Amino acid sequence: MKLVVTGGAGYVGSVCARVLIEAGHQVTVVDNLSVGNRDAVPAEAEFVEGDISAVADDLLAGTEFDGVLHFAAKSLVGESVHHPELYWQGNVVESLALLEAIRVHQVPRLVFSSTAATYGEPDSVPIVESSPTRPTNAYGATKLAIDHAITSYTVAHDLAAVSLRYFNVAGAYAGAGENRPVETHLIPLVLQAALGHRDKVSIFGTDYPTDDGTAIRDYIHIYDLAQAHLLALAAATPGRHAIYNLGSGTGFSVRQVIDTCREVTDIDIPVVETSRRAGDPAVLIASSDKAIAELGWQPDKTELAGIVTDAWDYIRALGDRAHSARS
Ligand code: UFG
Repeated sequence: MKLVVTGGAGYVGSVCARVLIEAGHQVTVVDNLSVGNRDAVPAEAEFVEGDISAVADDLLAGTEFDGVLHFAAKSLVGESVHHPELYWQGNVVESLALLEAIRVHQVPRLVFSSTAATYGEPDSVPIVESSPTRPTNAYGATKLAIDHAITSYTVAHDLAAVSLRYFNVAGAYAGAGENRPVETHLIPLVLQAALGHRDKVSIFGTDYPTDDGTAIRDYIHIYDLAQAHLLALAAATPGRHAIYNLGSGTGFSVRQVIDTCREVTDIDIPVVETSRRAGDPAVLIASSDKAIAELGWQPDKTELAGIVTDAWDYIRALGDRAHSARS
C-alpha cells in the first residue's frame, strides 16, 4: 500500500515506518522534527517536513494514498498537566486537520496511536477496551477526544479506522530506539544513569497502593507494537472504528524495572525517592485479548529483561556514536 506515516521521525513512528517498508509498503513520512530525528526516518521513505495542518492537504491532494498511520503527537504525561494548551493545539487541532484532509481526499484507511492514558485510573486491571475512559491528564484527554472524532468520521464518511491504545512502549528494533531531546521515560532514563550520563534515577512516588509502593506499568516491546500496526492496517473495515489495547498483560513496578535494568547492565544504578509525578495513575495493565482474537496479534518479546536488553544495546551504541562524533 501507499501510506502516509505522520510522526515517522519519532521513536514509535520511525520503527513502524521501518516495519511497514520491510513488509513491502511505500511510506511517506510527515514530521515537523520538533521531537523526532531526521536520521531516524528510514532511507527508503519519502520525507515531508512540516506540521500536519500545513502539509497534509497538499500531500493527500497530490497522491492517491491507501492509508494514513497517525503517530505525530505530543506525548508526555507530566508536561500535559502543566501545559495543556500544547496538547489541545498540537494533538487535537492537528489531528482534526488530518481527518479533514483524509475526508476531502478520500483516503480509505486510518490507524491512530491512542493510549492507555485514555482510561485514567482504572477501577480494575487488566484494562479492557470497554473500561471507562476517565483520563487524568491532558495527554489522555486529547487522545480520547481524537478517538471520538475518528468514530464520528468512520460512521459518517465510511472511513476504515483502527485506534491502538499503547501501554508503555520500550525496547529497540533494527538500530532504532528511544532518543528524545528531553527524556522523561523510565527505561531510557535508568539506562542513561547506568551509562553514567545521569547521576541517578528518581522514583516518582513510593506511597502508591501497590506491593512496593511504586507505580505499576505494562511494558510492550516496540517490535510487537509495530507488528500490530501491520495487522490493523489489513483488518481496517469501512464504517468501523475498532479500538484495541496493546500491552504484554503483565505489570512491573518502578522498583522492579530498576532492578531489571541493574541485572541486565550489571551496574548498581543509584536511585533517589521523590514525590509522585502529577497525572500518574497507580496501576496500568492491559488486556490485549481483543487484539489477539480479532487481529491475530501474537506479542513475542514479552519478557521485561529482553525489552531492557534491546534498549540497553541501542543506548550503548548511541552513546558510542555520540562519543565518537565529539572526539
Ligand atoms: N517514573 C519514575 N521516574 C522517572 C520517570 C518515570 O519513577 O524518572 C515512573 C512514572 O512515574 C511512571 C513510570 O515510571 O509511574 C513510567 O513512566 P514513563 O514516563 O516511562 O511512562 P508513562 O507511564 O508516564 O507514560 C507512558 C507513555 C504514554 C502512555 C502511558 C500509558 O509515555 O504515552 O505510558 O501507560 F500514555
